[in-house]
Amino acid sequence: MVAPDDTEQLAKTALAQVSSAENLSALEESRLKLLGKKGTLTEALKSLKDIAGEKRREVGARLNQIKAEVETAIEERRSTLERAAYATQLKSEWIDVSLPVRARPIVESAGSLHPLTKVQRELEQIFRNLGFTVVDGPEVETDYCNFEALNVPSTHPARDMQDTFWTTGGDLLRTHTSSIQVRALQTMKPPLRIVAPGRVYRYERIDASHEHTFYQMEGMMIDRNVTVGHVIYFMRTLLREIFGFDAKIRLRPGYFPFVEPGFELDIWFKNRWLELLPCGLIHPRVLEFGGINPKEWNGFAFGLGMSRLVMSRFKIDDIRHLQLGDLRFLKQFS
Ligand code: FA5
Repeated sequence: MVAPDDTEQLAKTALAQVSSAENLSALEESRLKLLGKKGTLTEALKSLKDIAGEKRREVGARLNQIKAEVETAIEERRSTLERAAYATQLKSEWIDVSLPVRARPIVESAGSLHPLTKVQRELEQIFRNLGFTVVDGPEVETDYCNFEALNVPSTHPARDMQDTFWTTGGDLLRTHTSSIQVRALQTMKPPLRIVAPGRVYRYERIDASHEHTFYQMEGMMIDRNVTVGHVIYFMRTLLREIFGFDAKIRLRPGYFPFVEPGFELDIWFKNRWLELLPCGLIHPRVLEFGGINPKEWNGFAFGLGMSRLVMSRFKIDDIRHLQLGDLRFLKQFS
């Protein structure tokens, strides 16, 4: 049982114990000795039941006050000790960042650009040199930009070829970068030349040349008197720059509701034709959707399959390698 006179002695000893703790583990030890299940202060509080009447209230109030003081002292001491420990750690772990780099370990772990990023950057540079601006658009797209304003109304059968993931609000993960054409027409005035690289999504049967998530690069040029000859010139130039020689290509008719006439440009790859670069002259209705007079302006557009271009450029036999993140594959491009 604690006598009223003992309380002041108890407070003195407890506070001295706390302030003399030299490190965090000594402090924790003191805390347990004072406030733990069998701690001095805890025991003193428990023994209050043995004191009678008015005195119990008096001693109880004082003991609770002491407990609060001790808890505060412990917290203060803890933060002082933590700061000191941190300062010691900083001192021992200090490094001189101005020292010269040791080349080998850093080069080994530096990593490299993904082949897709490499090709995308090359393409952007090629098109910048040809007077094009690189623009961007959202991956979660509206039905209007992805389909409607590209002359693909909700009843059009062409929608079946590009099923995708829909949000509950009626938006979708864009199925092609052509949606960026619509956004560019809304904000830019002709004459204009843009390219827009980006990730697109489709509900797709996966195989060596089909992914559900892949990359395209859209291109669009609007001017006066644009012809199919311009399309062929730009496509040939792009492939020559990328491959370093005139790749074997073929142009055949292709149907897309947003171009007229439309073409498929295929490239000879691994002893077969690989569909790579659909293109064509922009359909007058698409220009009208963008507020552009088709009697005054016309243009071409293309939708380059960038993932496939990367495959043929680096002789990658399966498109799935591009997304797997397998270091054995990626290290080959460092
Ligand atoms: C389109 O996406 C049209 N927006 C292209 C276009 C733009 C036409 C402008 C005319 C004018 P298509 O669905 O064919 O078209 O896709 C274009 C290219 O993306 C294909 O040639 C192919 O290289 C690539 N591609 C299509 N589907 C996949 C897939 N599942 N995985 C990898 N690449 C694909």
